[in-house]
Formats: sequence, C-alpha cells, structure tokens
Amino acid sequence: MARKQTSTKSKASSGGKPNGTTVADKTSGKSGLELSNVCKGYGDEWAREEVLIDLSLSILPGELTAVVGPSGCGKSALVNLIAGFELPDSGEILIDGSPVTGPGKDRLVVFQESALVPWQTAYQNVVFGPKLRRDMSPAQIKEEADKLFETVGLVEFKDKYPLQLSGGMQRRAELARAMINQPKLMIMDEPFRGLDAMSRELMQEFFLRLFEKNRRTNLFVTSEIEEAIFLADRLVVLSNKPAHVRKVIDIKLERPRDFHMLSSTQAYEYKREAMEILHEEALKGFKSTDSQSDFVEAFSTQND
Ligand SMILES: Nc1ncnc2c1ncn2[C@@H]1O[C@H](COP(=O)(O)OP(=O)(O)OP(=O)(O)O)[C@@H](O)[C@H]1O
Ligand SMILES: [Mg+2]
Repeated sequence: MARKQTSTKSKASSGGKPNGTTVADKTSGKSGLELSNVCKGYGDEWAREEVLIDLSLSILPGELTAVVGPSGCGKSALVNLIAGFELPDSGEILIDGSPVTGPGKDRLVVFQESALVPWQTAYQNVVFGPKLRRDMSPAQIKEEADKLFETVGLVEFKDKYPLQLSGGMQRRAELARAMINQPKLMIMDEPFRGLDAMSRELMQEFFLRLFEKNRRTNLFVTSEIEEAIFLADRLVVLSNKPAHVRKVIDIKLERPRDFHMLSSTQAYEYKREAMEILHEEALKGFKSTDSQSDFVEAFSTQND
C-alpha cells in the first residue's frame, strides 16, 4: 500500500545554497530541505550494509529537484529518511532549519503503489484528507477538488471507483489526492514507474501543470533521465551504493515546459552528462558484485 506522510517545523537555514537563497521560505508556505553528511546502513555486524554515505544536498523552496541513481543505490532509503519513517545513523536532515525526527504534516510522500481506497469513488478518495482534517470548509474542498479533477483530466470519472479506472487514471487521481493536501514538501518515489510509455508522458504533463501552477517544493525520485530533465529545476545524480551526491545539474529549460524541449541541444547535454556518471557508477556496481561472487566462489571451493 502507498503511504502518505507529513512534519511541521520552521526556522530559517542558510549556507551552501546557490545565489544566497535561504532554505526556508515561510512567506510562501514552502519548505526547503537540507541534508548534511547523512549516513544510513542496515543490518548488524557481518550482515551490515552501508546504503547512504555522507550524502549532502540542499533543496530550495518552490523548486522541483529530481533524483536519479543506479538501481538499488538507496533512493527509496533516502525518501524514507526525509519522510521521517526512519532516522539517519549520523548526519542531519533539516526542514526549514529544524531536524526531522519523524513523519509530519508538512511532508507528503507519493509512492509507486496506489494509495486509493477501493471502496471510495475517485472524488471521495481525493477529498478524504481535507475532510478528515477539517481545515477547509466543505465549499473550499469542493472548489479545490473540482479544479484538480479538471487539471488532471478526470472530471467525467470522478464518480468511478478505482477499479473502474485505468492504471494511468488511477495515478492521476492519486496526484489530485496528494495535491489537495497542499504539503509544503512533496516527496515522490518513482510515482510513474510501471506505466506504459504513453500514459507516462501524459502523467508527466499533468504533473507539470500542477507543479507549475503551485510551485510546491518537490523531491522527485525517478529512474528515467529524460523524465527527470523534463520535470526538474535541478537534477541530482547519485553514486552507486553507498550513495552520495555525484553531481547536481541545473536544468535551465524554460517554464512552462513542453516535450519539444527534450530535443534541444541543451537537454541533450544534460542527458549526456548524467548518463556518463550513471554509466560509471553502474560499472562500479557490477565490479563490486563480481568481486563478491568471486569471493563466495573461492570460499566455497576452499571448504569443499
Ligand atoms: N528498511 C530497510 N531494511 C533493510 N535494508 C534496506 C532497507 N531499505 C533499504 N534497504 C537496502 O538498501 C539498499 C538500497 O535500497 P533502496 O530500495 O533504497 O534502493 P533504490 O535505489 O530505491 O532501488 P530501486 O532503484 O530498485 O528503486 C538495498 O540493498 C536494500 O536492501
Ligand atoms: Mg526505490
């Protein structure tokens, strides 16, 4: 099942941000995020595996930061730490200058799996959060929900149950359900993974429309470089496990974006730069796997 979460903190933080921008942006209700030397490992003693090592990163308020990295490098582990589902072994994660100590209201996570409740219609699913919290009037909830259904192209399907919707439509309803909560920081972990190419492109467009309208701070994890370039203000390329930031690429394509921009020389250059690093990192991954299997083989031969 998908999980959604959230934490409320406030205090400005600075340092390490381009153009002297501070991470907190209280006036617009958007959160910035700062990770400093975050380390995380799993397992005990001989079974211990370091997954994130000295990972440092600044995410600016109102920006969409895409994160790409080799498969299994620790992207979801990073999401879990920022969401507050788990805590780092060392290092610090600050939201608006305050440390993350657990899940909180200012963050919302959208996972690859659907979080739609099957026995509620698409509309009931979308309005569920604000109705429960009672922080919006019924008229406001309806107005927001109607706008969102319009933006994600689901007006005619709002009274359908999730099982009556295609996979792509379910994801769109999912997006509306997340967006209506207006989190300061939205964290998305490969939300379009598994969709066919056409539905994925449509999702990217719907999502961009929503993002460009609201400019909520967004951390978007994806394994598709083109998707990352199409959506992001900044592209963070992670190393192989244990993951750290290899490169941050500023994506200076104009907004509003459209798919034609992906054929520009500039977009091609971003892709080439990111691919080169990912290729290097993937090779490292294979090498370490090879040496591990060589070791296992040698060890088992010795004990025959
Ligand atoms: N809660 C956990 N307990 C134990 N090990 C974990 C946990 N979370 C992640 N790991 C380990 O950390 C490593 C990275 O996993 P993670 O799922 O974060 O990678 P990923 O980059 O998201 O992979 P993918 O590209 O397949 O989505 C894996 O070796 C995984 O086994
Ligand atoms: Mg993952």
